[in-house]
Amino acid sequence: MKLGRATLGLLLLAPLAVRAVEPISLGLALAGVLTGYISYPRLYCLFAECCSQKRSLSREALQKDLDSKLFGQHLAKKVILNAVAGFISNPKPKKPLTLSLHGWTGTGKNFVSKIIAENIYEGGLNSDYVHLFVATLHFPHASNITLYKDQLQLWIRGNVSACARSIFIFDEMDKMHAGLIDAIKPFLDYYELVDRVSYQKAIFIFLSNAGAERITDVALDFWRSGKQREDIKLKDMEHALSVSVFNNKNKIADTTQKQTKLASHV
Ligand SMILES: Nc1ncnc2c1ncn2[C@@H]1O[C@H](COP(=O)(O)OP(=O)(O)OP(=O)(O)O)[C@@H](O)[C@H]1O
Ligand SMILES: [Mg+2]
Repeated sequence: MKLGRATLGLLLLAPLAVRAVEPISLGLALAGVLTGYISYPRLYCLFAECCSQKRSLSREALQKDLDSKLFGQHLAKKVILNAVAGFISNPKPKKPLTLSLHGWTGTGKNFVSKIIAENIYEGGLNSDYVHLFVATLHFPHASNITLYKDQLQLWIRGNVSACARSIFIFDEMDKMHAGLIDAIKPFLDYYELVDRVSYQKAIFIFLSNAGAERITDVALDFWRSGKQREDIKLKDMEHALSVSVFNNKNKIADTTQKQTKLASHV
């Protein structure tokens, strides 16, 4: 913004300083300066949202947001903070970040995805680089699965080609057709390139109610035995969650289980 103000100051002063200069040449010179100014990516990105020139994520800011906005999700908070901050600070990740958030309805899965998106892109969910798919809304008809598959793969490929740090959020994964999930899997693996495109900087977030009953059971067992909710450890959830999630017919992670960070919303 400082540079913006400096330029404005320069332009305002210009008429005084250059009274002696011929107006057409002055106009051309100014146009040249402005074109160079606007087309220089770093300066352009001061005024418009950019992919690669985006401010890097601040771990402290993300932590502050999670602590102040997300209530009662100590497990999800920890996994998300470490995974997202670690991934963004890695200049050469070997695979995209895949987060799978599980829990009952209304526990904050969409809410936390919004927080993640806002900490990476100022526009948050409205950013051109953040894409939200809702299984029941965008892929409603099982009979169109082949078409959806092609469209989804093209969409992901096109957007990652335009911006490596693209974020894809898939809501209602438990209601997504298994065939469509297969269409996403190739993008999530340890490939340097898939059809000449690298997906290693992309972020995939999957939201699902799968495993919610088991999460509640574990939380209830803790409560019944007089333990604090905050005493629940990720390992207490992981086993229960893995079994019920990976037994679910609509699963993202049978081949990518070890690579997907599971975060449970209690
Ligand atoms: N853990 C939480 N901390 C703070 N606010 C929350 C939390 N969980 C839910 N909320 C509030 O409730 C609203 C609804 O939650 P959200 O849409 O994120 O639920 P969800 O887990 O995605 O549910 P569903 O499975 O039905 O999609 C949020 O926009 C937020 O205002
Ligand atoms: Mg939701």
